[in-house]
Amino acid sequence: MARPRVFSGIQPTADSFHLGNYLGALRQWVPMQETHDAFYCVVDLHALTVSPEPAQLRARTRVAAAQLFACGLDPERSTVFVQSHVREHTELTWILLCLTGMGEAARMTQFKDKAAKYGESAAGVGLFTYPMLMAADILLYQADQVPVGADQKQHLELTRDLAQRFNHRFGDTFTMPEPFIPKEVEKITDLQDPTAKMSKSSSSPQGILDVLEQPGPLRKKIMRAVTDTGSEVLFDETNKPGISNLLRIQAALTGTPIPELVARYEGQGYGTFKKDVAEAVVETFSPIRERTEKLLSDETELDRLLAIGAERAAAVARETMAVVRERVGFLPKL
Ligand code: TYM
Repeated sequence: MARPRVFSGIQPTADSFHLGNYLGALRQWVPMQETHDAFYCVVDLHALTVSPEPAQLRARTRVAAAQLFACGLDPERSTVFVQSHVREHTELTWILLCLTGMGEAARMTQFKDKAAKYGESAAGVGLFTYPMLMAADILLYQADQVPVGADQKQHLELTRDLAQRFNHRFGDTFTMPEPFIPKEVEKITDLQDPTAKMSKSSSSPQGILDVLEQPGPLRKKIMRAVTDTGSEVLFDETNKPGISNLLRIQAALTGTPIPELVARYEGQGYGTFKKDVAEAVVETFSPIRERTEKLLSDETELDRLLAIGAERAAAVARETMAVVRERVGFLPKL
């Protein structure tokens, strides 16, 4: 029997991925390449919505791809590619846009948050239509599963609605994708503001742990993470959001259940615990950083791997689009 298909994407909008990306998404991508037919995409079209400088976008796209391979994605087993290399993404987006209601798009909380942050008029139409581009990514590959963090849940629901609408109107075409959101790490929070999501657009770099950061700054940020009143290491999201976030991180990185960690640090205070969290983060990130640097030192080879990924992805995308074109009533070109 054919393996189920997995698709996921990540934006090249920073010089490094962060711990939220890593635990919420990337860490699930690696084992899934053993059990699924895996497609992973650096979504540079999405990144255009924040108006990057061309040279910066190009550099960050390579850094993003290098980090994906450095995290353990194997170009033999996974199709790793850059979104703009496969033209069908934009074509399917247009068709999905024509099936989306204004009200439906306006309800997307990520858009509302960003529009509130930058002002409604500064937020471009690209940002407004961002979720439909994401839906096109997923539906083009007939993905069964989509591993993402909790912040993408609403976009996945929209994707399912659009798939269902298309199938209902034009006949069965798209696979219904299921979100795969790992409960314990679905939302890693900011070290300086433990009620907010760790995010590239966060106001202070002190709150973010970057995958490519050196051990020194990583340790410092963790030791200075905002903690809560009291001194006991306890999991209590309401009263101790800072310590609870660190407990989730430590549990995920070391594979130790939270209750076991709580028992281990009983009577030891925050300092010892934070030091251990820092070690776990450094141990995880250092080899990824080193592999990323190595991959970036040979851009020709990196670009070659991405070209192979794009070829494989385009073959699937073309097949889907041939059906979609026929279904919506486009005249075949002789
Ligand atoms: P992006 O680039 O913002 O983030 C990449 C992945 O990281 C997850 N994530 C988090 N998980 C837990 N805690 C956090 N603090 C945290 N911050 C980020 C995100 O949920 C995401 O899974 N729209 C997507 C990119 C995309 C995509 C797709 C994803 C485009 N097309 C198709 C899946 C399928 C995004 O902005 O991710």
